[in-house]
Amino acid sequence: HAADANRTDLMTITRYVLNEQSKRPESRGDFTILLSHIVLGCKFVCSAVNKAGLAKLIGLAGETNVQGEEQKKLDVLSNEVFINAFLSSGRTCILVSEEDEEATFVDPALRGKYCVVFDPLDGSSNIDCGVSIGTIFGIYMVKDFNNITLNDVLQPGKNMVAAGYCMYGSSCTLVLSTGSGVNGFTLDPSLGEFILTHPDIKIPKKGKIYSVNEGNAKNWDSPTAKYVDKCKFPTDGSSPKSLRYIGSMVADVHRTLLYGGIFMYPGDKKSPDGKLRVLYEVFPMSYLIEQAGGQAFTGKIRALDLIPQKIHDRSPVFLGSYDDVEDIKAIYTAHE
Ligand code: AHG
Ligand code: MN
Ligand code: MN
Ligand code: MN
Repeated sequence: HAADANRTDLMTITRYVLNEQSKRPESRGDFTILLSHIVLGCKFVCSAVNKAGLAKLIGLAGETNVQGEEQKKLDVLSNEVFINAFLSSGRTCILVSEEDEEATFVDPALRGKYCVVFDPLDGSSNIDCGVSIGTIFGIYMVKDFNNITLNDVLQPGKNMVAAGYCMYGSSCTLVLSTGSGVNGFTLDPSLGEFILTHPDIKIPKKGKIYSVNEGNAKNWDSPTAKYVDKCKFPTDGSSPKSLRYIGSMVADVHRTLLYGGIFMYPGDKKSPDGKLRVLYEVFPMSYLIEQAGGQAFTGKIRALDLIPQKIHDRSPVFLGSYDDVEDIKAIYTAHE
């Protein structure tokens, strides 16, 4: 019977989270409802991405976002889908999106206790050529439901109650942590359900891959330059690491999580804080990597200890296998 059990006893993401939440006496199903709306948004974006080329969803939307980036049609569409999904869930009170300059404070009639920070479409530069892209989200609990302020989303990443991403690639995979490990779910299009395919993901302690945009090497600070040099010309007799860089954070981090290694977006002379945004890129990915046994570093401190000042703050990030991040931490510490 064991083999059949998997086929007839489907562990869907909803069922999995219900199991998890039932271990928390205080939970009243609110998180499960919020998650079901996130799942709805991911399914919608997955189908839009898969037919983007056909449905004229390629190309620019003719607007520019607060990041100074030209918004793609899918950036705008995905943002609207997730904003509406979160509002209609009735479980959120503040929403922060890469694509919106200001935070959205939910109307009191539809207010819930969760604050969601999200990147509706990550890797936009890869949309038009069909390379994997994704959605990234992090969830905070509001501090005082009767006094909701922007500080509820300017908390350090370690205060997140959940984080995850959905990768729209050869398959649609949703990776989620609610604070006790990391699990991966793959969309079965015939059922329209996310099924548990990667239970209890643990990142290898050390990897053979480094992932960074070498095109920025001219501007790197010396610790980053030294570390990358060590990857390419190891002095301890080990073989050089392979370079893998996709340019969509979701895809680069997903590969790092499953295969091990290190993903870096360093600061440099031109942009000392690097490019990746703290709330909806650095924090959720750092949270997942730590939950899987790895670590995430900013070049100065543990990434999840950072306290953002503004909702679109950026930070350098070095994340991945525990031992690999230790190596670059040692170089930064010695450099101080
Ligand atoms: P987004 O498409 O949400 O703006 O994010 C793009 C980010 C991230 O996905 C990726 O790691 C990084 O940009 C790549 O930047 P470079 O092209 O500068 O390497
Ligand atoms: Mn962008
Ligand atoms: Mn992004
Ligand atoms: Mn984005």
